[in-house]
This record gives sequence, C-alpha cells and structure tokens, in this order.
Amino acid sequence: MSDKSNLQINGGEPVRTKPFPSWPRPTEAMKKSLIHTLENERWGIGSAAVEQFERKFADFHDSQFALAISTGTAALWVSLKAAGVKAGDEVIVPAYTFVGTATAVLMANAVPVFADIDESTLNMDPALLDDLITDKTKVVMPVHIAGNPAEITAIKQICDRHGIAMIEDAAQAHGTEWEGRKVGAFGMGGIFSFQSSKNMTAGEGGAIISDDEEFINKCFSYQNAGRVREGDWYEHDHLGGNFRLSAFPAALLTAQIESMEKDMAIRDANAAILDSGFEKIEGLELLQKYPGTTRVSHHLYIFRYLKKYFDEKSREQFLEALNGEGIPVYAGYVPLYRERLFIVNRAEYPWLEGVDFEKITLPVTERIADEEAVWLRQNCLLGSEEDAMDILQAVEKVVNAFSN
Ligand SMILES: Cc1ncc(COP(=O)(O)O)c(C=O)c1O
Repeated sequence: MSDKSNLQINGGEPVRTKPFPSWPRPTEAMKKSLIHTLENERWGIGSAAVEQFERKFADFHDSQFALAISTGTAALWVSLKAAGVKAGDEVIVPAYTFVGTATAVLMANAVPVFADIDESTLNMDPALLDDLITDKTKVVMPVHIAGNPAEITAIKQICDRHGIAMIEDAAQAHGTEWEGRKVGAFGMGGIFSFQSSKNMTAGEGGAIISDDEEFINKCFSYQNAGRVREGDWYEHDHLGGNFRLSAFPAALLTAQIESMEKDMAIRDANAAILDSGFEKIEGLELLQKYPGTTRVSHHLYIFRYLKKYFDEKSREQFLEALNGEGIPVYAGYVPLYRERLFIVNRAEYPWLEGVDFEKITLPVTERIADEEAVWLRQNCLLGSEEDAMDILQAVEKVVNAFSN
C-alpha cells in the first residue's frame, strides 16, 4: 500500500483514536477552595476570595497590582477607558487576534487601527508602528499570541517616543515571560482572560495587572459602576459598568496559581518534542521567539504549513488529513477586519465616519490566516510523551503522503 492510501481519510487506520486530556480540568484544590468560599465567605462585593486572588495573581505575574474583572473583553474596555481613550481616538491592535481585542476598542467609542504581523512570530510587527501612529493614537495594544511574547521592548520604546501608552493583551499569556519577568505590566498595564479554553480558567473571568497605582484605581472605577477607590459607596466619578468578578471564579483561580508551574513544565516538554520533530520537516515552520523571550505559555501550539513543499496541497487538505489521524488541528483566526461586524452602520457609530475597514489588506495576516496557520489547543500538550509522539507521527504520516 502506498503512503497515500494509508491515510485514514483514504480508508487507512488512524494514528490515534484516544482523546487528548480534556479541558477545563477540575482538581481537588479547586473543589476545596470553591467549597470554602461557598460556606465561609462573601460571594460578591467585599469578598476575601477576590482580594486574595488579586494579591496572588499580582505576585504570580510580577506586578504590583491586580484587579479581577468579569471577562477579558471587559478588562480590555476598562483598561482602555482608564488609559484615557476617548471618542474618536485610535488604538493600534494586530489584525491577527481574537475579535475582543478590537471590539473593546469600538466599545470605547474609539477606532481600531490594524497592524500587520511578523510572519515569524505572528505578533504585531514593531517595524510598521511608526507609520500607523497619528496624533489621535492613544494606545498601542500588542497581543502575546498563543502565549509567545510580542517584541514589547521595541514596542514600548516606540510608544515612549510618541508619548502614548502600551497596554498588553496577555489574554493567552499566563506565565509567559519576557527577559525573566512575567508579561502584563511592561507598559501601563495588561489584561488576562480566564475563559474556558485558557491555561488558567474559571469558565469566564479576567484581570488587569499594572505597576501604576493611578491607572489601576481608574480601572477599579470603570469596573465598578464608576465608584472611587476609598470613596463613598454612592459616589460615582466615571461612566463605569459592573464588571466585577464573583468570589467563585476567584476561588477557582487562586487554587490554580499553585499548579500552574507543573502544567507549564508538561506543556514545555511536549512542545519541545513537537519542535524538534517539526523542525526537521521541510515545509513546516515553527513560530520563532524574539530574543527577549524567556518563557512561552503555549496557550496554542501554532505552526505554519507551506503548501509549495507538499505538491500544492492546501492547508485545508492538511488539516482534514491530520484530523483523520486523530489530531484535532484547525485553521484559527481570519483577518479581523474581514469580520462582518466591521462593515459598520455609520448612524450607529458616528465616530467611524471616514473609516473604511473594507479597504484594508494586510498581506502577512492574510497569508497566515488564509493559507498557512495550523493550530493545536494547549490541552493537547498536557498529555504524556506518547501523546506528543502520536502528534509527531501523525504529522509525519500526512506530510509523507503529501510529498509522494
Ligand atoms: C487575545 C485575546 N484577547 C481577548 C480575549 C477576550 O477574553 P474573554 O473571552 O475572557 O472576554 C481573548 C479570549 O478569548 C483572547 O484570546
């Protein structure tokens, strides 16, 4: 039998039929923490569980302050408002990210300006920033995509030169490090998400971290009905919402901080197995790391598939064949500006007068999203060495079949 007919999609036996470790994954520590909070603590305002989580998460992420928030998207909106973003201001975001990075900008009545990405890391390309900055730019928001850090030293230098704020979207970067320090507070602040897929999760949840007390106090206000830290209960300074985190997700999250290192080490080891196998395969490109990178969270394992090495077989054919072999890979994001939400109704969004997202074309984002990116979720890296070897074997089987 030739390599081609061996593929499961052609009727052959798949490499793997076992599922990968499921996610989210309850632990005894999480159950204990949850029950303790349920029976002993306030469930909302004034909850010791929320305060404890904020303190421990700030410590864990090498920052002075943390504020727990209901979701990552709410954390983005709150941080933009606290950074002083006003109607009509511009916020630079990468075009290759989760939609929330850009919708939070629209929700702050501001204009998302899409930056193209660096094909080697899939992060915002700092070399393009100077050309995108205008006198309306208030914030640059790099995203640490897949938990692989953006070039935050270079981006921060550009922001400093122009007198604008950098806020990191670290929604996928729990435990990610830059120059030996965890990401999130390199600029004005940074946000995290604890939604179900994330490496630390409470089903839903978010946080902002910062070393800037004035900024975090403003975040508190926008998160908490416009209240003033240390102010009266019915004293409202800003147009804020209720984006507080309840005590139960906080209890779940605190319990996970302890076990993060163990999970990270497992993901690191399995990612290293994949890296060393894939780098020998011509036509598969691993994500590169900027020199400042000291730890990657591996929220996603992303690599690039270059069809010219595989008889012009498309990335979609590669995904289909690999899924047939029992490996749940998928294509990931589309270029954000193509989403229907950006075909905007000017009557509803008057500050977008003159902005036409439909005219945008960003060549690297489009090539990566349309043709090259292959994604694997973080829980596929949480299994045994044999699980990682199955992934490698399945990829080798498919590329061999495609090369014949
Ligand atoms: C890069 C990025 N930014 C923002 C978010 C929004 O977080 P949430 O889903 O908690 O609102 C997510 C996650 O979903 C994300 O991956």
